[in-house]
Amino acid sequence: MSTISEILVDEATLKKRVQELGAEISRDYQGKSLLLVGVLKGAVVFLSELAQQIKLPVTFDFMAVSSYGSSTESSGVVRILKDLDESLEDKHVLIVEDIIDTGLTLDYLYRHLQNRHPASLGICTLLDKPSRRLVDVPVDYVGFQISDYFVVGYGLDFNERYRNLPYIAVLKP
Ligand code: IMP
Ligand code: MG
Repeated sequence: MSTISEILVDEATLKKRVQELGAEISRDYQGKSLLLVGVLKGAVVFLSELAQQIKLPVTFDFMAVSSYGSSTESSGVVRILKDLDESLEDKHVLIVEDIIDTGLTLDYLYRHLQNRHPASLGICTLLDKPSRRLVDVPVDYVGFQISDYFVVGYGLDFNERYRNLPYIAVLKP
């Protein structure tokens, strides 16, 4: 049985940082419209709160990929379970992720989406674990850099649980 051992990023800190990211993205894409591509399911909570802080015309689309089974280790195998509904052709696209760990998932996704000729392709992640990186990915926006903990909450799960926590917590095995 796993339990929550410590709150790593509390609700108020998350909210403030998401506001800052939204303001930064609004400035960087000024005068443009933006397609946010969320990676299911982990990025759903972050994407919905971030989108509300972006003061531009925004649309959403979602992809589902599998990179983790029920364990906490990356398999390195990325499979597309649900593809995008819309074309990316000539659109400004921002991939929204919950966390970058090894980078294997985003490396695959980034190259996959780049092949569809967007006008631009960016990456925004709520959390980044740089110490775990196996492949380099061009990340444009990072909410928080964290140490090598397994974290849950604010969309992130362990065996599909804890996604609804309003904060980021460390899971103790
Ligand atoms: P990567 O391919 O190793 O970068 O893994 C990225 C994906 O693994 C994320 O989108 C998460 O779904 C999952 N993941 C990585 N670290 C954690 C964690 O600490 N908690 C929950 N999920 C994680
Ligand atoms: Mg994910």
